[in-house]
Amino acid sequence: MAAQWPVGLDALAYGGDYNPEQWPKTVWREDVRLMREAGVTMVSIGIFTWSLLEPEPGQYDFGWLDHLLDLVHDSGIRVALGTPTVVPPAWFYQRNPEALPVTREGVRLAFGSRGAICHSSAAYQQAIVSIAEQLGRRYGRHPAVALWHVHNEYGVPVSACYCDATAAAFRRWLADRYTTLKELNEAWGTTFWGQTYNSWTQVQPPRLTPTACNPAQQLDWARFTSDELLENFIRERDVLHALSPGIPVTTNFQAALSQCESLDYWAWAREVDVVTNDHYLVAETDRNHINLAMSADITRSLANGRPWLLLEHSTGAVNWQPRNIAKRPGEMGRNSLAHVGRGSDGAMFFQWRASRIGAEKFHSAMLPHAGTESRIWREVVRLGRAIGALAPVRGSRVVADIAMLWDWQSWWAQRLEWRPSVDLDARERADAWYAAAYDRHLTVDFAHPDAELSGYPLVVVPALYTMSESVAANLRRYVEKGGVLVVSCFSGIVDERDVVHPGPYPGALRDVLGLTVDEFTPLLEGERVRLDNGTTADIWAEVITLEGAERIWSYTNGPAAGHPAVTRHTTGRGTAWYVSTCLGQDGLVTVLRQAAADAMLPGRDLPRDIEVVERAGIEGRYLFVINHSDEETTVPVTGPATELLTGENVTAHIQVPAGEVRVVARTIWSER
Ligand code: GLA
Repeated sequence: MAAQWPVGLDALAYGGDYNPEQWPKTVWREDVRLMREAGVTMVSIGIFTWSLLEPEPGQYDFGWLDHLLDLVHDSGIRVALGTPTVVPPAWFYQRNPEALPVTREGVRLAFGSRGAICHSSAAYQQAIVSIAEQLGRRYGRHPAVALWHVHNEYGVPVSACYCDATAAAFRRWLADRYTTLKELNEAWGTTFWGQTYNSWTQVQPPRLTPTACNPAQQLDWARFTSDELLENFIRERDVLHALSPGIPVTTNFQAALSQCESLDYWAWAREVDVVTNDHYLVAETDRNHINLAMSADITRSLANGRPWLLLEHSTGAVNWQPRNIAKRPGEMGRNSLAHVGRGSDGAMFFQWRASRIGAEKFHSAMLPHAGTESRIWREVVRLGRAIGALAPVRGSRVVADIAMLWDWQSWWAQRLEWRPSVDLDARERADAWYAAAYDRHLTVDFAHPDAELSGYPLVVVPALYTMSESVAANLRRYVEKGGVLVVSCFSGIVDERDVVHPGPYPGALRDVLGLTVDEFTPLLEGERVRLDNGTTADIWAEVITLEGAERIWSYTNGPAAGHPAVTRHTTGRGTAWYVSTCLGQDGLVTVLRQAAADAMLPGRDLPRDIEVVERAGIEGRYLFVINHSDEETTVPVTGPATELLTGENVTAHIQVPAGEVRVVARTIWSER
C-alpha cells in the first residue's frame, strides 16, 4: 500500500512548483542554494514537460531530469514528480487532432495553451499510460521521489468534451447505470417534450439545443464527465503504484474554486493517496481569508480529517484575475499558516522562480523578478523558518465544532436553467452560511449528505436542492437522536434524478422540519424583505404552513408577509431549524447563535477577523490564532504553554499583534 504522506519528508512541506526547464542549467545551482536558504523541503517538478521528455513520438530524453533530480536530492529536498499529461506535445495533436476537445457549441479548441484534452480520446488514454510507464520505470524508485503529482488540476480549463468519441463513452456510462433504454427513458422523463429514445445511438451529450435541454440528461452528463476524468487519473495512478511501490500518488484539487465545480471531489478523494489542494485568493473580494478558510476546511473534509497538503497558493498577486491585487506585507504568511491551522501539513506555492517568458510571467513567485533584495523574498525566508518551527503540529488533526453538508451533484442540478430564480445560487448560500460560522468562530467540517453525522452537535444544510430518500433518512435519524439541524431554503426539493418529491415542498424534509411550503415566492431583483426581528433578506421567500414547527420570525412585508420566515421544530431528541429566505449576514449569525445554544455549543466571543482554530495530536494541542485585523488582540488560553513561533511562555493569555499569527502548543483554549 502506498504511503499517505510524501515519503521521506519528515517535516512540514514547504516549497513550490519548480519549472527549471525555463532556465539555463547555470541557474539551477543557484535555485537549490536559495531553496535551502528559504527552508524549502519539497518541490513539484515536471508538470508541464511532456514535449521535453518525449520530443518525438517514442523517443525520450530523460538526461535533464536525471540531472535535476540528483541535484535536488543532493540538497536534501524531496520531490513531488509530475506526470505531464495536462500538456500533450504538438506532435501528439498533429497525429491525433480528435484529442482536442469540442465545446458545447461544437467548436474544436486549438493547441497553443494547455489542458486542451478530450478525456475520452483513445489515443490520449493510451498516451498517458505510456508516458506514466516511462516515468514510473525510470524514477519509480529514485530516492528523490516522495510523491507522484499526476496531471494538473483536472477539469481546468476544460472538463467536458462534446465530440463523438465522448458521446460513445457517455452511452457506455449510461448503459452501465441504467442497463436498459426503458430505464434511461424513465430516469430522464423523456415522455416530457417527446424525447423518448428507442435506440442507444440516438442518445447524445447535452449539446446546444434551441431551449432548455433535458435536466436529467444534463445532470447525468455532469456525473459522467467527473467520472470520465477520474478514470484517466486512475489509469495513471495504477501504473505508478505498480512501478513505484510505496510512493503515494496525488493530483491537485481546487476544492473550493467556484468557477471549477465540474468534479465530484468526494469520489475523487477516495482514489488519491494524499489529498492535495490549490487555493488562490479572489484578491478583490473583501475578507477573502474567509474563502481561504472554507477551501481548507473542504479539503480537510475530503481527506476525512487526515492531514492534507496545500500544493499551490501564491506569494503575492496572481496574473489571471482582472485586477491582480498584490498581497499586503504579512498576508502571505497569514494565508499559509491559516491553511496549516486548518490541517495542511505544509504550504507550497505556484511557483518557485518567477517566469520571464510565457503566459504566467506576471504571476508572483517565491523568488520574484526583483530577486532576493525584495520584500517577498524576505517574507518567504521568514515563512520557511515559521514552517520549520511548526514541525510538532505534523499529523495532528483539526478539532471541528459543526458540520455543513456539501454536494457538488446537487449544485450541478440546481444550476441548470429554468429554476424558480436565477438569483438563488447554491454556492452563494454555502459561502454566506460559512461566513456566518466563521464570524461565530465555529470551526466547520464539510460532510457528504450521506455521511454519519452523529459526532456533530450541529449540522447546517446551506443548499441541498437534490436529496435522495437515503439522505432524508440520514437527516431524520440525526435529529431524532438529538442533533440540531439548520436547513436553508430550496433544500430537499427533488430526488437524484431531478424529479420533484411527491406532495408539498420540501418533500424530503417536511416531517423533520414540521412544515410544508405552499408556494415559492421569489423576490424581484434587488428587492429586500424585512423580518419581525429587524433583519432583512433578499432573493427568496416562501409561504409556509406550520405542521408542528414553531414560528421564530415572520416576514413583515413582501409576497410572504405575515407568514413564518424562520421556524424551529423539536422532534425526537433533537431540533430542526428552517430558514425560508436568503438572510443577510446578521440574520444568519443570529440563527447560528440560537441553534448553537440548542446544541449546547458555546460560541467564542472574539473580535471580528480573529481566526482561531485548533489541531490536536498525540503529543499536544495547537491553537492557531490568526489576526487578520488592524489591531492587536488578546486571546485567552489555558497554560502553561509555549508559543511555537516566538518561543514565548504563555500562561493565561496570548497577545497577537495586528496581522500576526501565533501558535500556542499544549494548551486547551479556556472558553471552549
Ligand atoms: C493553477 C495552476 C498553476 C498555475 C497557477 C497560477 O493553480 O495549477 O500551474 O497556472 O494556477 O495561479
